[in-house]
Amino acid sequence: MNSEPHYLNADLKFSGIDIPFGKMAWRSPSNIALVKYWGKKPVQIPQNPSISFTLSKSYSETEVSYSPADSGALEMEFYFDGKRNLTFEAKTIKFFKSLSGIFPFVNQLKFVVRSKNTFPHSAGIASSASGMSVLAMVLCDMERQFFGTLQEEADFRRKASYIARLGSGSACRSVYGGLVVWGEDESVPGTSDYYGFPVNEGIHEIFINYQDAILLVDAGEKKVSSRVGHGLMNGNPFAFERFNQARNNLTILLHALRTGDTETFMRITETEALTLHAMMMTSQPYFLLMKPNTLQIIDRIFAFREKTGLPASFTLDAGPNVHLLYPKAIKGEMKHFIDTDLLPFLSPKGYIEDEVGKGPEKIL
Ligand code: PMV
Repeated sequence: MNSEPHYLNADLKFSGIDIPFGKMAWRSPSNIALVKYWGKKPVQIPQNPSISFTLSKSYSETEVSYSPADSGALEMEFYFDGKRNLTFEAKTIKFFKSLSGIFPFVNQLKFVVRSKNTFPHSAGIASSASGMSVLAMVLCDMERQFFGTLQEEADFRRKASYIARLGSGSACRSVYGGLVVWGEDESVPGTSDYYGFPVNEGIHEIFINYQDAILLVDAGEKKVSSRVGHGLMNGNPFAFERFNQARNNLTILLHALRTGDTETFMRITETEALTLHAMMMTSQPYFLLMKPNTLQIIDRIFAFREKTGLPASFTLDAGPNVHLLYPKAIKGEMKHFIDTDLLPFLSPKGYIEDEVGKGPEKIL
């Protein structure tokens, strides 16, 4: 079993007057789970392993300026899209304070955070994966720069993934590019409940640059927070079976990803999407996040596949938007299908043509 890394370190603190001034910025993408994480134990430990594709075009870009805190305690201003955002500010202060045993230096700094997302605001795309992973990259980069630790790239990424997980479980998978597993699975050495683990070796070429067209069905805010949703799995009568199913699905999917078996890939991704929503529909209280247009789109994907035989499948996040997954080689056919058959069911925000990406990038 993988044990928890021990990151508590009282030495990561500035002594006396050498508190720095400076600025750094990172970009970190969102990810889309193929086997879903839904249900957790304290503290942010998943009930089952999950796997995702890290995306490329849907990312958060965050610049953090730091200077000595006048008050001698953590201070922060948070700007989102150029405007002060008190909700994000309170959330980020809470997150940074919760990390003060791991990064004692946060209590000595004043932070000015400027963040933006490339995906349209309130398009119904969860921004916690990109938003939390980008903060984790910045904090680990500060540690590396100020204290000379985390010089090995593998250590740096692992700690960033561990920290991102504490912000939002799924965010720990965004720290790496390509396919990332989070949650210990005995058949995949290196996997852990505490951080994500990239599994890109030996993956069939068809899945290396897979496409994800994110079809924006409804631009509204999420009706149920994922924190509440995870919590409801505690009383869900199907939870035990679900967690076992996810473990089996991961094994089957990894085999399909290695052999290039798109049939199995489609079956597992769609099963996972529908099971995630089935869990929401069978919780107490129950909730329904699909919209009529979500089902219209799914119906048309089934019909399109039946007619053309092309390997296009869907997955869903905790919301009404549909992620249409397909190999790069059929991008032209898929664009034509979306533009002619699916556009009437989309919100005015349309769709985002995303694809598998390489993970976070330092930009300053
Ligand atoms: O990371 P959280 O706590 O927001 O949970 C995300 C859960 C899903 O997006 C629905 C599934 C997943 O594995 O990403």
